[in-house]
Amino acid sequence: MNNRFLDACWGKPVDRVPVWLMRQAGRYLPDYMRVRSKCTFLELCKTPELAAEVTIQPVDILGVDAAILFSDILTPIEPMGMELDFVPGPVFAKPIRTMADVEALKIPKMETDVPYVLDAVKLLRKELAAKVPLIGFGGAPFTLACYMVEGKGSKDFAALKKMMYAESDVYAALMDKITTMDMEYLNAQIKAGAQAIQIFDTWGGMLSPADYERYVLPYTQRLINGLDRTNVPVIHFVKGAGTMLEIVKEAGGDVMGLDWHVNLGKARDILGDMPVQGNLDPTVLFAPNEIIEREVKRVLAENAGRPGLIFNLGHGILPTVPPEKAIFMVDCVHRLTQK
Ligand code: CP3
Repeated sequence: MNNRFLDACWGKPVDRVPVWLMRQAGRYLPDYMRVRSKCTFLELCKTPELAAEVTIQPVDILGVDAAILFSDILTPIEPMGMELDFVPGPVFAKPIRTMADVEALKIPKMETDVPYVLDAVKLLRKELAAKVPLIGFGGAPFTLACYMVEGKGSKDFAALKKMMYAESDVYAALMDKITTMDMEYLNAQIKAGAQAIQIFDTWGGMLSPADYERYVLPYTQRLINGLDRTNVPVIHFVKGAGTMLEIVKEAGGDVMGLDWHVNLGKARDILGDMPVQGNLDPTVLFAPNEIIEREVKRVLAENAGRPGLIFNLGHGILPTVPPEKAIFMVDCVHRLTQK
């Protein structure tokens, strides 16, 4: 069993720096497109055998040190009572706008409402046994609220921010309900066998540090505190958090995910001995190999040999990246850090 990823999450020394890529299963892989061409994205998420197959693809193709469950942050929102489609971006038929909408949301029974997620985790633990650890994941309450209130992706999530400022009681009730759901969802993944959990807060960095502290931190903190974390490290990734790392750190968690807007070494100076994950600009994978290698070296130099580094991109891999480039990047990290 390759334990480098989990060891690095706990800040332990490793024989070489572990690496995986956010969104490592997906459309940039022809193997994924082959499976995906026979069903919709949601059908793929809801069929454990297929979800497991595409979860393992990048482990075999890229040689990464961890697998991440194939699903979506919005999977558990559908059984809260919100009709969901992917086109390919997520679309909710009826976004949340009023207190009555919030009150109508259900807290799913994970074993019966999202059995396919838990079955995929169990199946993957069997299939991955001799390979790499399995990461489970969920969205942070704020990022989930962004999609639930807006109804789809957005540049500024103005509907959600309007609710946050102008109808703070509705916002608080919604965030509270999402946090409760999220805690049960992630604990169910842990119980099913997930060996680490990543919390994706893709939009948390769109707020000022003061607003993050007021409107986001209390919920993510309650979520992380409520997880059954013994032996299961929690990676907290807030995109755009570079200017407020000391506040985001208060949410708890074992590993801080970093995007590429921050110098990894400077981030580590602020975070003390908290392990970090990141932080190559995903578009570097469009560069010639010499430049990919230069950028990998730069990030490693910023880390300056400190333990507790998990190499990753600073956000998800883009669908137009040639797989050979991702393979080359993973190989660079392993080759340049081998002890
Ligand atoms: O990392 C992995 O390989 C696991 C799979 C994974 C998916 N979504 C599969 C997916 C993970 C970890 C996610 C997380 C997710 N989903 C986030 C947080 C991370 C991030 O990228 O910021 C967010 C914001 C979403 C919501 C979402 N789902 C969007 C905006 C989209 C459409 C555009 C896009 O980026 O692909 C999706 C659809 C989606 N989720 C696809 C995949 C493979 C594409 C669907 C398809 O095959 O047509």
